[in-house]
Amino acid sequence: MEFRIQNPEQMHELGMAIAKVLRAGDLLLLNGPLGAGKTTLTRGIGEGLGASGTVQSPTFVLARTHRTAAGPKLVHVDAYRLTSAVELDDLDIDFANSIVVVEWARDYVDGIAEHWLQVDINREAEDESRMVSIFGTGKRWQGVEIALSN
Ligand SMILES: Nc1ncnc2c1ncn2[C@@H]1O[C@H](COP(=O)(O)OP(=O)(O)O)[C@@H](O)[C@H]1O
Ligand SMILES: [Mg+2]
Repeated sequence: MEFRIQNPEQMHELGMAIAKVLRAGDLLLLNGPLGAGKTTLTRGIGEGLGASGTVQSPTFVLARTHRTAAGPKLVHVDAYRLTSAVELDDLDIDFANSIVVVEWARDYVDGIAEHWLQVDINREAEDESRMVSIFGTGKRWQGVEIALSN
């Protein structure tokens, strides 16, 4: 799935649209350069799930856990400062009972999940628009559609 996202508000909307299809056990990998909109998207996911607290770049902590109205916890990881898969493993994330969103995952999640949703954000144009491609791997994501209204 590909979306052209014109501004931060629309990125937030996309996050809310993604949230509609999420459930416990889901893993999202967000790729894109600094300032691409990974945290903005995660904030939309947080709003969509009814997450407690503010979703922000986990600058001083590697992972932030938010309770949600939807049920499963939202675990927001910023793997930017991680240097190995072992460090991610050391966070002891409860993947099965959470919705886990990882910024800068690189290949650190290899082997820890059977299915995941990869979101690649590209900033190609000079303007504020972003091309977002979303690709699900594994049976879980077969036939799952994300619909961005308007
Ligand atoms: N189309 C867009 N989508 C997302 N963010 C945008 C867009 N245009 C401008 N921005 C701005 O870019 C910045 C993205 O920051 P952030 O979401 O923290 O990125 P990242 O987490 O990828 O480093 C924000 O300041 C946001 O307002
Ligand atoms: Mg960020």
